[in-house]
Amino acid sequence: MSKPCVINTICLQVSADQPDSEAITEAATILRRGGLVAFPTETVYGLGADAFNSSAIRKVFEAKGRPSDNPLIVHIAELSCLDSLTASFPEIAQTLARKFWPGPLTLILRRTSKVPDIVSPGLDTVAVRMPNHPVALSLLRRFGRGLVAPSANISGRPSPTTAQHVLDDLEGLIEMVLDSGPTEIGVESTVLDITVSPPAILRKGGLSREAIEAAIGPVNTEADSALTKRSPGNRYKHYAPHAKVVLVATGDVLALATALHNPDFVDKKIACLLHSIPAPAPKSNVTVQRAPLDLGKFSHSLFEYLRQSDKAGIDIIIVEEVSEVGLGAAVMDRLRRATSSVEGN
Ligand code: TXA
Ligand code: MG
Repeated sequence: MSKPCVINTICLQVSADQPDSEAITEAATILRRGGLVAFPTETVYGLGADAFNSSAIRKVFEAKGRPSDNPLIVHIAELSCLDSLTASFPEIAQTLARKFWPGPLTLILRRTSKVPDIVSPGLDTVAVRMPNHPVALSLLRRFGRGLVAPSANISGRPSPTTAQHVLDDLEGLIEMVLDSGPTEIGVESTVLDITVSPPAILRKGGLSREAIEAAIGPVNTEADSALTKRSPGNRYKHYAPHAKVVLVATGDVLALATALHNPDFVDKKIACLLHSIPAPAPKSNVTVQRAPLDLGKFSHSLFEYLRQSDKAGIDIIIVEEVSEVGLGAAVMDRLRRATSSVEGN
């Protein structure tokens, strides 16, 4: 893979409520020239490029250091943009789009030959989502067609939930970041494959399984090998801070004590994120933070917490597990991927 050249990354503040028209035009101009612009969505910041420009998309893979077989999500602001992406938008997709778009749901659809191969290498499908963020929507409208937008982080690192996270990973590698403050949901969209029956959740995310099933009936969620094959992103270790992440079961005081007394951790800087386990007795190498009980707040701040821990030079992060209902399923998925237990997955 050739090394991307160093460029001057412009960071523009854009109000989330009333996106500044000039900033949006500037960003759209860069994208039309085949450049890269990071922008906020309701889930995480995305790294945008023209979905119909293969050389622009190649730069996305280079900047992120992303494995070339990991397909990208095309973001749209209008349903009319689907015409160039897919030949069929079945009933079930229409139901889901009516109910959940714009929002944190990505649909896997059959793709047309107009979609460049580099978007979904080796697949006959394309992932599509309509993000629910005024800046993302106004950029997409100004640009006028689909944008690929993977999370705007170096591949394998926690996804960015602030413009600063994007700069930390990609400054000098992309033309622009639109900064509208922290993203709301904090974990990525739910990826749902509707080309299979029953539909299958390929990635747990910002829209819960419960909400999807209330709209269309049962969906498959097993993390079996067939699903992994269909969503190549699942093969890679994700969301990993530099620190080692250790999970302890909810309320398991003993497991926390055991982890804290692990002889391998004696000289290490340890950070604990606990929501129900009482803080352990103070130790000079251990800091404790209270996690929010509310799962929405937990997901909102999870990646920020992992990145802050890295900045503070933490070696070991001990996290108390959360219940896997609603957003908790996505939170636990990200935490498990951050542990060494799925390394090489
Ligand atoms: O919330 C999100 O989805 C964010 C924001 C920026 O929209 N984007 C995002 O993109 O998380 P990315 O590239 O980091 O993750 C896309 C996931 C990967 O796991 C990828 O393998 C899967 O979607 N994916 C993309 N296209 C696919 C396809 N055609 N079939 C199966 N999985 C696909
Ligand atoms: Mg990603």
